[in-house]
Amino acid sequence: MSDPTRPPGPKIISVANQKGGVGKTTTTINLAAALVELGNRVLVVDLDPQGNASTGLGIEMDDRERTTYDLLLEDVALEDVILATDIEDLAIVPATVDLSSADIELISNERRSFLLHDALRQTDIDAYEFDFVLIDCPPSLNLLTVNAMIASHSILVPLQSEFFALEGLSQLMLTVREVRQTGNPNLRIEGVVLTMHDARNNLSQQVEQDARDNLGDIVFKTRIPRNVRVSEAPSFALPVLSYDSMSKGAIAYRDLAKELVANNAAVGA
Ligand SMILES: Nc1ncnc2c1ncn2[C@@H]1O[C@H](COP(=O)(O)OP(=O)(O)OP(=O)(O)O)[C@@H](O)[C@H]1O
Ligand SMILES: [Mg+2]
Repeated sequence: MSDPTRPPGPKIISVANQKGGVGKTTTTINLAAALVELGNRVLVVDLDPQGNASTGLGIEMDDRERTTYDLLLEDVALEDVILATDIEDLAIVPATVDLSSADIELISNERRSFLLHDALRQTDIDAYEFDFVLIDCPPSLNLLTVNAMIASHSILVPLQSEFFALEGLSQLMLTVREVRQTGNPNLRIEGVVLTMHDARNNLSQQVEQDARDNLGDIVFKTRIPRNVRVSEAPSFALPVLSYDSMSKGAIAYRDLAKELVANNAAVGA
């Protein structure tokens, strides 16, 4: 979806929350697929040594010859690490467990926080005409997540609808502030999305109320329901949008994509 008012180059969004298992990877994969359905070209960058986004999008281990590790640490060009997926207009830079040593290996590198930023701003990225780049972050506020935040225009935070959900957010926001001070003054909060939500469950309702009271407008109106089809889809190496197109999970991720696109149109970013 080309928007003549937008500056050239893709909108780069980190999907981040240092809490594990809150729906980062699920949101990355399915939001990407939903943005593609809306006519966008999307690149997913798997920045998690667990490689779950790569697996969920059907990239076999044997095909992960070049990965985000090579992009960040070996100076391999973006064009040599991008793989097509089975979904047209959805590409990925895959990850493997190699990436887990990045923190240590980069300790003496002066540009260690800017490696993804630099890699994504090579001139050749424009040739792909991506509209969005979604970065799936690991469950940590480590150097990889800092690289993602420095490389991004905004961060999107999945918040699982369960007790203590909001507890980790102050730490996350502190990191955002640090990143703004040290390398990316324009980093925005794209939004907080409630995941695995169960509207009939009192606790889910309470978390939603707390999130909306405390965080206000940055909480997306769209909530992602807990839906078994969403959790089954990765084992078929498909986004839920392809696996069960009319499931509640697929519909919610389509709504999220529309809301995100509308928000971006509104701010002209
Ligand atoms: N809406 C949903 N309905 C049902 N299950 C879900 C939903 N969203 C995520 N899950 C399941 O919850 C688990 C955690 O999700 P996911 O892997 O996306 O979290 P994550 O934040 O990426 O985890 P990690 O921190 O380990 O990277 C997975 O088994 C996933 O299938
Ligand atoms: Mg994950």
